[in-house]
Amino acid sequence: MMRCSRVWLSNASALLATFGPFDIVQSAAHSGVVEVQMNSRNNKLNLLDDSFVRNLPLAMAFLNEDLNSTARVAILVGGDDRPFSAGLDIKSAMKTFFKDVSSVDKAKVAVSTALGVSTKIRDGGEGMPAMRNQEMHRVIREFQDSISSVARCRVPVIAAINSHCLGGAISLATACDFRFCTSDSKFCVKEVKIGINPDIGTLQRLYPLVGQGRARELTFSARNFSAADAKSYGLVEEVFADKESMLTAARASAVEIASNSPLAVQGAKHVMNVPSERAVQESLDYVRLWNSAFIKSNDLVSFGTAFATKSEPQFTDFVVDSTSPPIAPTKRQV
Ligand SMILES: *[C@@H]1O[C@H](CO)[C@@H](O)[C@H](O)[C@H]1NC(C)=O
Ligand SMILES: *[C@@H]1O[C@H](CO)[C@@H](O)[C@H](O)[C@H]1NC(C)=O
Repeated sequence: MMRCSRVWLSNASALLATFGPFDIVQSAAHSGVVEVQMNSRNNKLNLLDDSFVRNLPLAMAFLNEDLNSTARVAILVGGDDRPFSAGLDIKSAMKTFFKDVSSVDKAKVAVSTALGVSTKIRDGGEGMPAMRNQEMHRVIREFQDSISSVARCRVPVIAAINSHCLGGAISLATACDFRFCTSDSKFCVKEVKIGINPDIGTLQRLYPLVGQGRARELTFSARNFSAADAKSYGLVEEVFADKESMLTAARASAVEIASNSPLAVQGAKHVMNVPSERAVQESLDYVRLWNSAFIKSNDLVSFGTAFATKSEPQFTDFVVDSTSPPIAPTKRQV
C-alpha cells in the first residue's frame, strides 16, 4: 500500500495490483471502476519499452480473469503528472533492430555505438537472414499482442490522454474503446519520420475512427496535431481543460457504465469487436511479415545516426514491388 501515496488518487481508493509500470487502482466512486495508471519505472514518459509491452497484457489479463467481475470498466491514464505516452522507446528499439548486426554492417555498429546500446556481433551474422528475420517477427508479435490485449479486454477501456500521445501511443489510444483528452495533448503518428511502417495497430485501428483520408494524411505526413484537431477528426470524443476535469468526466462515464449489466456491456463490446478485430488481426499479421522482411533498412540506419548525432536523416529506400494482394492479377501477370 506504500505506493498509494505516489499514484494518482482522487480520494480513498485501493491499489488492487501492480504489473511493472501498471498500477491497478479501484475507484472509491464505484467498486466496478478501476484505473490502470501508467507509472513507468524506467522513464517519465511512459515509453513503450520492454517492461511496458510485457506487462500490459498481464494487467489486461488481471481484468479479464477477475472471476467475481469486480472490474466492470477501466480507465487507462498516465499516473501522477505523467503523460499518456510518448510512444516507442527509441533506444531500446534500436537495440532490438540492430542486436544481430553482422560484423560487415559497419554502419549499424556505428549507430549502435553512437546510441550507446550494446551490439552483439554474431559469428556468421552475415549469413542468410531467415532466422534473424523470424526473431523480428516474434518481437513485432509481442508488441502487437500487447496493444491488442487492450482492444480485446473483456471490459471497456477508456483512454484518458494528456500531454504526449505520440507514435506507438496512438496505437494504444486507438485500442481503447473511447478517448477523452486534455487541451494540452499533442498527437503524432510518428513512425514514418523514423523510417518505420507502423506495425502495432495504428494502420488498422485509426482509420475506422477518422476515415481513410485523414488516417493517410496523418500517417504519411507524421505531423503533430492538437487536441482540438483530434476532436474534430473523431480520434477523441471530448477535450477537457486539464487532467483533473478529464478524470472527473472519465470517472463519471465509468460509473455510469459500471452501473449497467456487466453481461450486456461486455457482450456489446465483444460483438462490436468481432468484425473489426478480425479484420485488424488479418492486417496485423500482414504488416508483421512485411516489417520482418523490410524494417532493417538504410532509412532506419540513417534515422538512428541522425537521432544519435542530432542531424537530419536522409531517406532513400522505397518499395520495389507495389503489387498488393487485393488487386486481381491481370492476364499479362498470369
Ligand atoms: C469471489 O468472492 C467470494 C466471496 O467474496 C470469495 O470467496 C471468492 O474467493 C472470490 N473468487 C475469486 C475468484 O476472486
Ligand atoms: C512536433 O512535436 C514535437 C514534440 O512533441 C517537437 O519536438 C517537434 O519539433 C514538433 N514538430 C514540429 C514540426 O512542430
